[in-house]
Amino acid sequence: MDPNRAYLRNPPPAELEDYVSDQRKGIVPPPLEKPIEPGARQISLTPPDRLTLGQMPLRDAIGKRESRRTFSDEPLSFDELSFLLWATQGIRKVHPQRVWAMRTVPSGGCRHPMETYLWARNVDRVPPGLYRYAPLEHALVAARVPGGAALPSLAGICSEQSFVDRAAVTFIWTAIPYRTEWRYGPDSLKDILLSCGHICQNLYLACESIGAGTCAIVAYDQDALDAYVGADGKDEISLYVAPVGKIPG
Ligand SMILES: Cc1cc2nc3c(=O)[nH]c(=O)nc-3n(C[C@H](O)[C@H](O)[C@H](O)COP(=O)(O)O)c2cc1C
Repeated sequence: MDPNRAYLRNPPPAELEDYVSDQRKGIVPPPLEKPIEPGARQISLTPPDRLTLGQMPLRDAIGKRESRRTFSDEPLSFDELSFLLWATQGIRKVHPQRVWAMRTVPSGGCRHPMETYLWARNVDRVPPGLYRYAPLEHALVAARVPGGAALPSLAGICSEQSFVDRAAVTFIWTAIPYRTEWRYGPDSLKDILLSCGHICQNLYLACESIGAGTCAIVAYDQDALDAYVGADGKDEISLYVAPVGKIPG
């Protein structure tokens, strides 16, 4: 049997018996999102209550959903990008002391360990570049590129899957494991991965509802993708990629 299957199993209760989580110890919870660097360029997105997109019946969005690898050259509108970010990681309600924030997707213990990076190539009113989504501000934050070097091709990082470079925008999700470990300690791995799946499924359905498409991608070079978004591979680890583009008419 492949020993990695052990990672799919929950630890036996006995193993967790003596474990005291950082939450139980009274340690301050980690921030709900990565702090925004002082002076970082921000682009405020269209607030969710002003978005009228996504009126397709849920039944149709579910029925039409498929992994889409052919995109038109049509740009994604600013409202469409705002809608997709709200649908995948948008905030519904925030604890007054910011201990938790309810979002449009579920996450074990409401820990929401994921960050969203975007390679925006063809989005109205968004200069091409790498951004991070700040859910509390519902804004894009220009992501610092370590060394300021030009970014490599994402298709190259994703096992030469050429359609990635034809996307209007590509979502890259990273995990900050400690957000979940603060509450669940050694029982966090499955929680983090399952939470990420929920995010991507919302992206699939939200895309269908606006005439766009996406394709979940796990085939990528881990070190190269971590470097692309500036994750150190330990306290922040890239997990999932999803190129998005309009469906050719
Ligand atoms: C975890 C996961 C990883 C995937 N990785 C890739 C990938 O690297 N490249 C790709 O083209 N499709 C990828 N897919 C898409 C699957 O190939 C696709 O979901 C499957 O063939 C079923 O097709 P459908 O999504 O259209 O129903 C992935 C899907 C999932 C859920």
